[in-house]
Parts: sequence; structure tokens; C-alpha cells
Amino acid sequence: MDRREFIKVCSALGAGLLLPKLSFPKGTSFKAYNRVLLVNKEGKPLKEEDLKVGENYLFFYPYVSTPAFLINVGKEVRPQKLKTEKGEYLFKGGVGSKKSIVAFTAICAHQLTHPTPNASFISYYPDLGEIRCCAHQSHYNVLKGGKVVSGPADYPLLAIVLEEENGEFYAVGTLGVERFEEFFRVFRRELRKRFRGLAKAKELVKGQTKVLTLKEYSKGMIITC
Ligand code: FES
Repeated sequence: MDRREFIKVCSALGAGLLLPKLSFPKGTSFKAYNRVLLVNKEGKPLKEEDLKVGENYLFFYPYVSTPAFLINVGKEVRPQKLKTEKGEYLFKGGVGSKKSIVAFTAICAHQLTHPTPNASFISYYPDLGEIRCCAHQSHYNVLKGGKVVSGPADYPLLAIVLEEENGEFYAVGTLGVERFEEFFRVFRRELRKRFRGLAKAKELVKGQTKVLTLKEYSKGMIITC
């Protein structure tokens, strides 16, 4: 390559012309976290048959204080292209024999409402195929990768990326717009109290994470929206 060609290539690279188009723009990318095994209440690896279709299951991921929904929709959840003001990304669809098992953060993309041991204003409505947050009526379509159907949320619900290996399920990362830092800031007082220190609430889940039903975790489920 002579000097002129070299300069041409460098300027093309500088302008982004020779680079592949990024499918995960900043802020909406796949983010890898610890690969964590989902286990049932007995601490055994969770199997597909443990998941009742339509039930709200909850586990904590990627941090020990950040709840996520695990849902067996009962039918295939296909890959879905999602758009946000920060760019586009591809929701990978469901896992399991029917590709019907999906996971999303249980932290609302609007003002971060989430299940606590006392109550949950956000839950999955199987008849509607939606996760709904009753705090201000943000509704997310589970079959469409957590896309906002209505309400004030600006972003789809953050997906938790699952992998299946030999009939066992692992959480491996997140996909979408993350707001965990904001969650830690807004709820720092409650988290400090519940986890005996904010640093503990910010610890990443390692090894395995237990899957419970939402009813087992939250005393009161608010289902009025
Ligand atoms: S916090 Fe969920 S809709 Fe406002």
C-alpha cells in the first residue's frame, strides 16, 4: 500500500466508512455479566418443567438487589428488533424447547418501580401477554421483547439474556437500556437497610440465583392495571 492509499484508508476508517455498522449502539448494547445458573427453591438446577406457563417468577440478576422476571409464555417468543432513541438492538427471543422462556428486569423503565418484599406494582399479565407497571401504567409487550405498548416509559424493558445448556438455564447478561446506577442512587436508603450497606446491594450475583414465584417474594401483588 503506498502512502496515498494508506491515507485514504485511514481517513475512511476515521469517517467510519470501512467499519461494520454497530448493531448495538452505546447505551443499548448487550452487556455480559457473570454466567449464573438458575436454581429452584431446593437449590437444584431449574428445569423447563418447573416453570408453569403464565406464572410470575422472580430471580435476582445481575446484582443481588436487582429483581428480574422469568416467564414461560407457553409459545414461541421470536427475535425482535427494538428501537430506542439511543439506537436499535435485536432481542434474541425465547429459550427452551418451545423458545417460550424469557427474562426481563422487574425494574420499570419509567421511574424504576420494582417488587419489594412488601408489595409489587409491576407484574406479568399472562392473558394480555404484557408486563404492566401500575405505578403510572407503563405496559410492555413480552412477545415483542419488552416493547412499550403504552404509558410513560421511554425504553423497552431491559432483557436478561438467558442461555440453555443440557436442560439447565443460565443468565449471562443484559440487553437494552440499563438504569441500574440510577436504581442504586434513587433507592439507596431502602437498599442500604435491606442489604446492610449499599456496597452489598451492588454486589454481582455469582454462581447461582434462586427462582421464586412473585407471590413467594412479595407479600402484596397490586394487580389493578
Ligand atoms: S414507574 Fe412504572 S410506570 Fe412509572
